[in-house]
Amino acid sequence: MPKVPAFHIFPSAKAASTALADEISQLIRSREAEERPTVLGLATGNTPIQLYAELVRLHEEGLSFRNVVTFNLDEYIGVSRENPESYWQFMHSHLFNRIDIVPENIHIPESTVLSENLESYCSSYEDQITEAGGIDLQVLGIGRNGHIGFNEPGASPEVATHATELNSVTIDDAAQAFGGATQVPRRAITMGVKTILGARRITLLAFGTGKAGIVERALNPGITAEVPATYLQSHHDTTFFLDQEAGAQL
Ligand code: F6R
Repeated sequence: MPKVPAFHIFPSAKAASTALADEISQLIRSREAEERPTVLGLATGNTPIQLYAELVRLHEEGLSFRNVVTFNLDEYIGVSRENPESYWQFMHSHLFNRIDIVPENIHIPESTVLSENLESYCSSYEDQITEAGGIDLQVLGIGRNGHIGFNEPGASPEVATHATELNSVTIDDAAQAFGGATQVPRRAITMGVKTILGARRITLLAFGTGKAGIVERALNPGITAEVPATYLQSHHDTTFFLDQEAGAQL
């Protein structure tokens, strides 16, 4: 049965990140005890950096990722793995290079797929998620415009992994990292809302005053394509992990 997402407001972003890292580590350990892999859906951006730092710390204390399979939400089209702004680089520097995950278990959408192959590439990404057994726990951030992954305002809940155009708010938010709005890629591959809603559990991290308004809209009962994060209201097990600032309007 769908239910409106739960939310927890923590004293700080670090406390929220630690709580989610603890949940992930318990999941990994319990699945390992059953000799089953854990399939994680992962996000990039500023928000999950402390989560990944905490997972690295837990790894240093003995948590193993050898039974973990990961699928990243998205990647810019045309940004090669070597580009420091690629999500491939982000994930490797913040997490994958610092834990014992098996490289073959890492999945990040390929940024250099030729346009004529994009559709089949996206459907093969979906197939890989299915073959892995589906996503046990998805980590999300939220854009100031309510996007999840790169499912921008107007996104359909029926669409799985696909190539999409970035919204102007998303381009503005990425402008600094790319050295100006004109340098920001216009397109990305993203898991669709359908893919995200297929995860058995969804967790969304949001921190800071800049996210307070959109967090309130996402949790305000009523689903609208204009705020894709409201689609999470149709999922049966979603929790928002917030700091005081992001939760200030709740
Ligand atoms: C990243 C992603 C995006 C971000 C969102 C928030 O993989 O899919 O939806 O989660 O744009 O970004 P930050 O965390 O930088 O505010």
